[in-house]
Amino acid sequence: MGLLDISIIRMVSKLVLVLLLFHHVVIATSSYSSQKQYPSCPDGEKSALLQFKDSFTIDKSASRSTDAYPKVSSWKPAEGGNSTCCSWEGVECDEKTGHVIGLDLGSSCLHGSINSNSSLFRLVHLQRLNLSDNNFNYSQIPASIRNFPSLTHLDLSTSVFSGQVPSELSLLSKLTYLNLALNLDRLSEDKDHQSSEEENYPLLKLEASDLGSLVQNLSSLEVLSLSFVNVSSAIPHSMANLSSLTALHLRACHLFGEFPVRIFQLPNLESLSVRYNQELTGYFPEFNQSSPFILLKVGFTGFFGTIPSSIQNLHSLQNFDVAQSNFSEGLVPSFLGNLRQLTYLDISANKFGGPIPDSLANLTQLATFRISTSRLTGPIPSWLGNFSKLEYLDFAFNRLNGSVPASFSNLTNLQILYLQLNSLSGVVEFQMFQNLQFLFQLQLSWNSLEFVTVNSTVQQFTVLGLSNCSLTEFPSFLQYQKGLERLEIAGNKIRGQVPNWMWNTSIETLVYLDISGNFFSGQFPLVLPWVNLVGITFSSNMFHGSLPVPPPTMLEYTATDNNFTGEISSLLCNMKNLQLLDLSKNKLSGMLPQCLGNFSDDLTLLLLGNNSFHGVIPQTYNSGSSLRMIDVSHNKLHGQIPRSLVNCARLEYLVLSNNQFNDVFPIWLGTLQELKLLAMRHNRFYGVIGKSRKNVDFPKLRILDLSHNNFTGAVPSMFPSIIVNKSAYMFTDVAYDASGARIIRYAGYALTLATKGLEQYYPMIREEFASFDISSNKFEGEIPDFIGKLKELRSLNLSHNILTGSIPSSFGNLTKLESLDLSQNKLSGQIPQQLRQLNFLGSFNVSHNNLTGPIPQGTQLTSLNITSYEGNPGLCGDPLPKKCGKSKAPQRPPSTVDDGDSSSAGIFEFDWKIVSAGCGSGLIVGVVLADVVITRRPDMFLKIVGMIRQMIWKI
Ligand SMILES: *[C@@H]1O[C@H](CO)[C@@H](O)[C@H](O)[C@H]1NC(C)=O
Ligand SMILES: *[C@@H]1O[C@H](CO)[C@@H](O)[C@H](O)[C@H]1NC(C)=O
Ligand SMILES: *[C@@H]1O[C@H](CO)[C@@H](O)[C@H](O)[C@H]1NC(C)=O
Ligand SMILES: *[C@@H]1O[C@H](CO)[C@@H](O)[C@H](O)[C@H]1NC(C)=O
Repeated sequence: MGLLDISIIRMVSKLVLVLLLFHHVVIATSSYSSQKQYPSCPDGEKSALLQFKDSFTIDKSASRSTDAYPKVSSWKPAEGGNSTCCSWEGVECDEKTGHVIGLDLGSSCLHGSINSNSSLFRLVHLQRLNLSDNNFNYSQIPASIRNFPSLTHLDLSTSVFSGQVPSELSLLSKLTYLNLALNLDRLSEDKDHQSSEEENYPLLKLEASDLGSLVQNLSSLEVLSLSFVNVSSAIPHSMANLSSLTALHLRACHLFGEFPVRIFQLPNLESLSVRYNQELTGYFPEFNQSSPFILLKVGFTGFFGTIPSSIQNLHSLQNFDVAQSNFSEGLVPSFLGNLRQLTYLDISANKFGGPIPDSLANLTQLATFRISTSRLTGPIPSWLGNFSKLEYLDFAFNRLNGSVPASFSNLTNLQILYLQLNSLSGVVEFQMFQNLQFLFQLQLSWNSLEFVTVNSTVQQFTVLGLSNCSLTEFPSFLQYQKGLERLEIAGNKIRGQVPNWMWNTSIETLVYLDISGNFFSGQFPLVLPWVNLVGITFSSNMFHGSLPVPPPTMLEYTATDNNFTGEISSLLCNMKNLQLLDLSKNKLSGMLPQCLGNFSDDLTLLLLGNNSFHGVIPQTYNSGSSLRMIDVSHNKLHGQIPRSLVNCARLEYLVLSNNQFNDVFPIWLGTLQELKLLAMRHNRFYGVIGKSRKNVDFPKLRILDLSHNNFTGAVPSMFPSIIVNKSAYMFTDVAYDASGARIIRYAGYALTLATKGLEQYYPMIREEFASFDISSNKFEGEIPDFIGKLKELRSLNLSHNILTGSIPSSFGNLTKLESLDLSQNKLSGQIPQQLRQLNFLGSFNVSHNNLTGPIPQGTQLTSLNITSYEGNPGLCGDPLPKKCGKSKAPQRPPSTVDDGDSSSAGIFEFDWKIVSAGCGSGLIVGVVLADVVITRRPDMFLKIVGMIRQMIWKI
């Protein structure tokens, strides 16, 4: 179990604790003084209790709370002849009748199953039952719960109950407290690095109709907590009739529809959380003075609108969370500064911008203060140094400038400081954090800061982000860090070798390491030393020698752009959960291990381009494959394209260019519903391309590059998706992990479109980009009509083939074309007047055909270089010197012989920019990418990679 998992568990138990504390749950305990005259309990109930005790094993790990202990161990059949069970710990009896009316076995280390026959259900006088924080081993909540008609308090939270919540629950009409929250799969908690809020499998399910009858029948409810129960329905409007409600917690319940706004007006409601219900919409009403809210959390939902200024009326409000919803008001509302009691404020990832208002200087009680992933500008106010209770400050992913205030050295309770990805500048002396003894996460990456390090620190950090902090040396204090989980020092100017002590640092704990974009040289140890590592990137350095073998825990392995040599060890295939493997741009050689195709069902990106691999590509791809990108370009691979690629149902990008593949066109890939890009240029593909099934095959293909092969026959027609712009182009996944971390997986890439005389750079292949390049083959016959229907085309290259006939006038419909190359064919007839409509055309080439007649005048077509037209003796008019007249002008001399590849050397230079996130045991990370433009500048690229890898959302 990784440390991060532990931290999730810690978080969960903390949450439980908070829940318990918050609701002032009074569950009976036997904290009576020893003088207390205990009533005697009926024998039947006593034996029921003993039997109940015996049906479990005591298991310390069954409870998450650090205060857990087995209360039942004090339960003995007949101690010293004194046998009333009413004196037992956790048991409460009615003073008069002696009946057991309260049972508090919360956090009692109970492990085992429970069913309807359990002796527990003989305690029919029970009024309060607390079984929270034990492990009932996926038991269903027994329907015999109906045996407790007097029950007022029922707490079955965090106890590994599973299955359908029994409808009998709604018979317990006296319930005032009902808590079924946080029944989660502990296996997934423990093992699944990826466990996210959504994936975190909720064990309990509540039928919509049962929620309805609960709300209908349990009209005395004061506390209702169903967090992490899979409800999957709308919230019934009748919920607003529960007039006694003080707390309503429906976190991550898969709720949808609109939140009944009347619930906000419940007169006693102090605590409301509907966080992590992405499909749930709603808005805030006006709040009035009498509203008793202490906690209001609607983060990670579809709540929208504005935060009403009447929120200032909530004088008791301590916790306010609207993070990652759809609130927008331009500036950060200054009236929030009147919520003086706030201890928790999170308005991250909405559309708030502008400077941090000075009115917030009055929020001196804040312990958590987060406005990340927004549009904040201006400096970080130095008055924050007065927030003496501050533990967690997060302004990451904004546009803040200026320096890190010196007053931060007064934040003696600070534990987490996230300032990454802003425009901060100036020198940050590590010294200034010296007094912050609780600081354990510090993120300063991707600003323009200059970080001045010290030799040692008082703190032990778990997260340190010092990327792009002008470091010139490997920070030596790192050698004393024993618990690092995440270390980033990418994009600095560190030269030379990684110090040897680094291979001994935080060996058990480190899960993510980014040292990319430095000037590191030297070699790695044969095997990476960090046993729990899930992500490493050391790209864009000068490492040489063999690729280090990573531990099997890895999810991301990025070694691109170094000087690694030798073969890929098949030990890499031990990474059974690997999602990203990027070994491109090295000097690796040898054959590719055949396991690469199918060693991990989670492998999404397989990038091996720009090496010297030879042999065939991995032949076997399993049908569960998650592969979305495969790039093996610029190697010496040969042979056929494996037919089993057809199993990669999610494949979006397949780049085979610049190898020696020898095969027919893989028409069978037409069944891949997600394939958007197929690049096969510069290989030895051959043959006639058969007809694909219209509107069925290649439904999303938008970029096809078949250039420089030996294809023959007619121009292939197969790309309906270019006709209508319907495909969401880049892939983006969004998920949330258990700590609330938003995970976005994203892959975009840039390409350079270089045609004769024009190099056009596309910062990112936008959704609508489409291109078709079949140049330098032996395609023959006429240009088919369908091409004139590919309205989204930006680039069309049919050059260097044997095409005959005329240029279809339908090309005039390709109004988005920026580049059109028809040169070196046998086209005849006139250039259609319709081409005058191609307003975006920056590159146009029809040279070396048999075109005749006038060049359409008065458009960009006449402003082009003469070379666009040369080699067509029959053409006339501007820009050619030959005027169009009645009389035949003298023939131009034939132009120089074509060099075969002049027009298109590198029409598609694919330059993959992989930006991905998702490593780190569910602790990672993502960011709203709406504003991000991927550029080719390596520094920006790193910035974006960093950015996506950074964002850590905490509970
Ligand atoms: C038995 O319990 C009663 C009531 O709590 C107490 O007064 C008495 O001292 C106990 N007797 C023994 C033998 O422990
Ligand atoms: C803080 O509150 C005081 C008292 O209401 C007020 O006078 C002051 O202007 C507030 N400070 C800011 C910066 O708004
Ligand atoms: C820290 O707080 C003290 C006491 O309020 C103050 O005198 C000092 O100037 C503060 N330090 C900084 C760097 O702001
Ligand atoms: C810090 O480490 C360097 C190199 O090891 C050493 O020369 C220097 O004296 C150390 N400085 C302090 C303050 O310990």
